[in-house]
Parts: sequence; C-alpha cells; structure tokens
Amino acid sequence: MENIMDDEKDINKILLVDDNPKNLQIAMNILKDFNVIYSTSGENALTLVEENNFDLILLDIVMPNMSGYEVCEKLKQNNRTKDIPIIFLTVKHEEKDIIEGLEKGAVDYLIKPFYPQVLLKRVQLHLKLASSLKELKQMNEHLNEIIDKKIKEITKKENIIVRQSKFATMGEMIGNIAHQWRQPLSTITTASSGILLKMDFDTLTNEDIVSSMNMINSSAKYLSQTIDDFKSFYDPKRNKFKSIYIDDVIEKSLKLVKAQFSAKDIHLVKNLENIKITSLENELIQVLINILNNARDEVIKLKTKRLIFINSYKENEFLNIEIIDNAGGIEEKLHKKIFDAYFTTKEEKGTGIGLYMSKEIMQKLLDGDIKVENCSYEYESEKFEGAKFILKLPLIF
Ligand SMILES: Nc1ncnc2c1ncn2[C@@H]1O[C@H](COP(=O)(O)OP(=O)(O)OP(=O)(O)O)[C@@H](O)[C@H]1O
Ligand SMILES: [Mg+2]
Repeated sequence: MENIMDDEKDINKILLVDDNPKNLQIAMNILKDFNVIYSTSGENALTLVEENNFDLILLDIVMPNMSGYEVCEKLKQNNRTKDIPIIFLTVKHEEKDIIEGLEKGAVDYLIKPFYPQVLLKRVQLHLKLASSLKELKQMNEHLNEIIDKKIKEITKKENIIVRQSKFATMGEMIGNIAHQWRQPLSTITTASSGILLKMDFDTLTNEDIVSSMNMINSSAKYLSQTIDDFKSFYDPKRNKFKSIYIDDVIEKSLKLVKAQFSAKDIHLVKNLENIKITSLENELIQVLINILNNARDEVIKLKTKRLIFINSYKENEFLNIEIIDNAGGIEEKLHKKIFDAYFTTKEEKGTGIGLYMSKEIMQKLLDGDIKVENCSYEYESEKFEGAKFILKLPLIF
C-alpha cells in the first residue's frame, strides 16, 4: 500500500514504514510539509525504495513478516540505498533495542509515543546532515577530478621536459662526436692524400705505405671506439642499478666531453677517490655532463686560466662529487632559480633544462641530492672564485 502526497522536486522525500495505520496518520500529520510516501510492510517498503529516491526513512521495528531490522540490513547492503539515513520509530524502548538499532546503521532512534516537535526536529536535523554530507561528497569528487586533471597536466609537462632534455643532451653529444672526430679524420685525410701525392711523384716507399696504413688504422679504431662510448650512453639495457666505481663513471663522462674541453683550453684537475656505489650509471653520467658543460660554458668566457676541478670522496654513508670552476660563481639570489625548468641565462644557446633534469635525476632516481655554493680557493699559488656543485649519493641504494 502506498500513498504519494506530493511530488514536488525540491521537497524532501520521506518513506514512512509502520504496520499500524493510526501511527502512520499521526506521523504523516507531523510531517505534512514533506513529500511523504508510506508503507505498511517491510517488503513493500523495499519495493518503494527501488522505485524512488528517498532522502530519509522512518522505520518501525515490530512488524509482521519482515521486521524493521531486516529492512534496515537489506538497505545497508545495497550500494544505492546504503547512505539513506534511517530513523527507527518504535515502541521497543530497552537499552539493548536502541543499541541494536543503531548498530544496524540507523542514524537515530525514537521511542513511541514521541513528542511531535521532537520527531519534526530530528527529521529536519538528519535531512540537513544528509544533504551536507552529499554536498561534501560532491565537493570531494570534484576536487578529486581537479587533482586528477592537474596530475595529468603535470605528467604531460614532465614528459615533454624529459624528451626535450634527451634531445638537448643528444645535441650536445653530436657536438662532442664532431669534436672528437675532427682530429682522427684529418689524420686519415692527411695520410691517404700523402700516399697519393708520393705516388704521383714516384717517391712512395713500402715504409710510407706501412706507416700511413697504421695511422689510418689506429684513427679508424679510435673513431669506432668513440661510437661505442656514445652508443653505450644511450643503451637502455644499461639503465639498471648496479655496482659502479665512481672514478670509472667520471672518466666515462669526461671521455664524452673532453674533446671540447681541450679545444677550449680548459684545464681539468681530478682528485678522485675510487669509491664503489650502487647506482644508475647512465643517469649519473647525464648529470655529470650537464654540470661539466655548464662549467665549460662559464670558464670559456675567461681570458685567463680556465679551470675545472672534480673531486670525489666519502662522507659518512655518502659519496660526494664536487665540480668546481673558476668562473666567479653564481649570484646568490639565483642559487634556487637555476634548478627551475627553463631557467637559463644563455638565451637561445641554452634550454634551461640541464640543472632541472639533473636535480630530478639526483633526487627522484638516485636517492641523492644536488647543491650549489660559491667558493674561493687557492690553486698553484693563485686565488680563484667559482661555483661549486656538490652531488651527494648514497653508497648503497
Ligand atoms: N658553473 C656555473 N657558473 C655560473 N652559472 C651557472 C653555472 N652552472 C649553471 N649556471 C647558470 O644556471 C643556468 C641554468 O643551467 P641549466 O644547465 O639548467 O641550463 P642551461 O645551461 O642554460 O641550458 P641547457 O638546458 O642547455 O643546459 C645557466 O643558464 C647559468 O646561468
Ligand atoms: Mg646546462
């Protein structure tokens, strides 16, 4: 049995369940301002809940066939109905009854006979609570959507930066290969054209052929060796944590950049302790190259001595690598900024990703850190000032 009193959308819809018509009448009278649908049995109440969206249910406990407790349990098991607030409205007045009712998931428990105003106030209160809860849930969902969207945006941006940084490193590498190849290629050209020239003048001896061939041979070997060095830097299979010796890693990094260093008259001073760490070799090489190239970009502005120092030493459970130059240092207020993505003072010559990526790699992939400070020092009785980049890495990751 059911009775639809009012179907207005903005009026709260309440289901009233009681097997006693007189009780129904009293309660409906009190709740006359709401859209109340009533039912005289538990089974019928469940059918009504299927067909309607109720904001609140007032439920009698003692009813034939299906008790209010059973109705409540069924509603709480159903995802669609579990959040509808239920108030028991019953003659069962003992402490254990009230406790059981609340344990079944009801938000409130009213004992019959009740004061009409108390019923009204409780109903109003729980409707308000339920609507606030709904609002909060919606806000939460909305917030989660915003957060998801932001995370997606950030991840996309990060991916773009990572890709750009790979291209930037690749561009640097191609520049380095070009530098490293200049010398052996010119040796090959000189040796082969020398042979041709001597043939033309009929002065070619067997010794000339042997010595030129040896020169060509060793230059070709050197060319193929440099290709191997660069290839291994890009080999994804090498991107695994493994035991590495830090002076090996530094030597490998230097090998990739040294051609440009000697061409620019940069004097490298190494003070390396050979320390074993567990780390990602290629990532560490990428960081070292970024910092070495930055130091190179600064020292080449100097008309005087161009110096870059690399030190490695153990400190507690960490390995420290320092890269120091003599280019005067970095303005204090820029110390934080230089690690921001796209911060560069090199205009179109720099992308400003080098240090950003280095910090990401150090902190997120290698569980270490990167810092910068200015320092003044003495070298061969001369005083210098420059930037000091300190890489800190755990010995075992
Ligand atoms: N050793 C240094 N001495 C002085 N300034 C430095 C030094 N290293 C970095 N910087 C400053 O930090 C800035 C950011 O360096 P970062 O490596 O992130 O970008 P970049 O070198 O400008 O460009 P790229 O992305 O091509 O490396 C540089 O533009 C430079 O101003
Ligand atoms: Mg750089």
